[in-house]
Amino acid sequence: MMENNDILLDVRNLKVHFPIEKGILFKRKVGAIRAVDDVSFTVRRGEALGVVGESGCGKSTTAMAIAQLQPITAGQIFFEGKDLAAMTPEELRRARMKFQIVFQDPYSSLDPRMRAGDLIAEPLRIYARRGILNLSNQEIKKKTAILMDRCGLSSSFADRYPHEFSGGQRQRIGIARALSLDPKLILADEPVSALDVSIQSQILNLLKDLQQEFDLTFLFIAHDLAVIEYFCSRVAVMYLGHIVETADALTLYKEPLHPYTRALLSAVPLPDPRIARKKQRIILKGDVPSPSQIRPGCPFMDRCPQVMDRCKREAPRLSLTGEGHEVACFLYDSPSTSAM
Ligand SMILES: Nc1ncnc2c1ncn2[C@@H]1O[C@H](COP(=O)(O)OP(=O)(O)OP(=O)(O)O)[C@@H](O)[C@H]1O
Ligand SMILES: [Mg+2]
Repeated sequence: MMENNDILLDVRNLKVHFPIEKGILFKRKVGAIRAVDDVSFTVRRGEALGVVGESGCGKSTTAMAIAQLQPITAGQIFFEGKDLAAMTPEELRRARMKFQIVFQDPYSSLDPRMRAGDLIAEPLRIYARRGILNLSNQEIKKKTAILMDRCGLSSSFADRYPHEFSGGQRQRIGIARALSLDPKLILADEPVSALDVSIQSQILNLLKDLQQEFDLTFLFIAHDLAVIEYFCSRVAVMYLGHIVETADALTLYKEPLHPYTRALLSAVPLPDPRIARKKQRIILKGDVPSPSQIRPGCPFMDRCPQVMDRCKREAPRLSLTGEGHEVACFLYDSPSTSAM
């Protein structure tokens, strides 16, 4: 395998399928929900890769699979060049410290019976108990206070319970907790979408500052394209378990290629004056089809305004159309890529 030190996370042909079962006593598998269906991408050190797409397209499942919180059906996940599946349990425990999730809803993801200080200290205590971290109680206390302060929480709040905080403050607890083990990669799953707009930018700014200060790399999931544009240097667009387009953020917003990306972008007003987009709203017909249906062709064919006959027979593969710009669409298919 070619070593590339720049690449922190390398996801290859990831599939996560959920079985659909029938029967109460004797379950038999009658189908599968293909939540993530052959997804490949890389995240370089220090960048923030945005993942965008409508509800149900497989964004959270992708993050959960990377975080080892969801078993995978097929594919490989390399972290710092090492295949997670090939690691010993001990190696995996150590690797797991280096990537942490920040969830959308800090209320349901934080144990309501635990105090803020304990919530933030918990990962440190667990790893110290296992002997992986060599930290005394005193050191853990000190580190917790520093993290609270850095995330904009007064350490005098350490004894309060999650319900005593506002939504934004709860998310600060979630962020401090995620940072406690000095991770390299943050899997941020809609970290601001449950918050009021006025609070969103405070949390986004905090995350940006922390990115600089702690050299963090982000996989940043959101359905809000303006949030992604603000936070991310590169973007992957997902549709029905597939990545349909990736590009650096400026290129994607300026020159979206995939009809799905175009439709998504046409629906949002973006404040960035660098992006002179024609204001023509593309309305998508119908709903996202069920990910349990198995059918040939492009996943977007039934809603695509530019669908061709070929799209109903074959699925286009993600291929390069420009520097770092990949799209899975026959509209941009050159003879050399289709011959491969
Ligand atoms: N544990 C599960 N069992 C069965 N199906 C699941 C499970 N988790 C997710 N799914 C299905 O997998 C698909 C992808 O879900 P996922 O939560 O990853 O989407 P998402 O892109 O994160 O959506 P949202 O924007 O609403 O958060 C959906 O069809 C969902 O219903
Ligand atoms: Mg989700």
